[in-house]
Amino acid sequence: MTVELHLGDCLEVMRTMPDKSVGAVITDPPYGIGRDKGFEGFGGFGKPIARTQYHGDWDGARPDKRYFDEVLRLGEIALIFGGNYFADLLPVGNHWVVWDKKQTMPAFGDCELVWTNVKRNSVKWITREWNGLLGKEESREHATQKPLKIMKWLIVNYTHEGDTVLDPFMGSGTTGVACVQTGRNFIGIEIDPTYYAIAERRIREAQMQPSLLEAA
Ligand SMILES: C[S@@+](CC[C@H](N)C(=O)[O-])C[C@H]1O[C@@H](n2cnc3c(N)ncnc32)[C@H](O)[C@@H]1O
Repeated sequence: MTVELHLGDCLEVMRTMPDKSVGAVITDPPYGIGRDKGFEGFGGFGKPIARTQYHGDWDGARPDKRYFDEVLRLGEIALIFGGNYFADLLPVGNHWVVWDKKQTMPAFGDCELVWTNVKRNSVKWITREWNGLLGKEESREHATQKPLKIMKWLIVNYTHEGDTVLDPFMGSGTTGVACVQTGRNFIGIEIDPTYYAIAERRIREAQMQPSLLEAA
């Protein structure tokens, strides 16, 4: 299995890649809602919750359409977290994935929506407990780090062993760790040197643990 990591603007890197050169793009772009700084309580629950423990300044704006056009050009399929924030930049998708976080905090969102261009007419619902900042099961190094089990579930269910998966907004590298653990090749791009270094380390550590190669 191969891992290729790039530090830089994913638009520039993606533009160097040929059409349909990856089996899947699985990614979690900035939503443009300031999640690196904190978030407001929902429905009058409490004060806005500030995030100070993560390095950041990356969620002030969402990527523009050029980024999504590149994602769609490169991937046989694409799965994009936060699809509700990008609906005006993406084609109609008939197959969405709903991740129910089963979380218990009244101020946090209950679900996340993953837009896909998979040719199915259905909505898939997956559950995985993820109690925001309170979750203790996995170490947290990024404000919007995704659970490894969710990423592995997507990879196992939407790609094949030996496929190449691209994550152009790699963050702390969760998609890359999931690829290593499920036998997929991985290409990751991250613009922030701090997160790039975290991703590089997490993926390297995963590669040093071949016994973890397993289906999700
Ligand atoms: C929502 S976070 C991804 C978090 C990731 N899912 C994880 O588990 O850690 C989005 C990431 O995209 C990065 N980013 C923003 N604009 C970018 C760009 N133009 N090219 C590459 N990376 C970018 C940000 O620095 C941030 O780390």
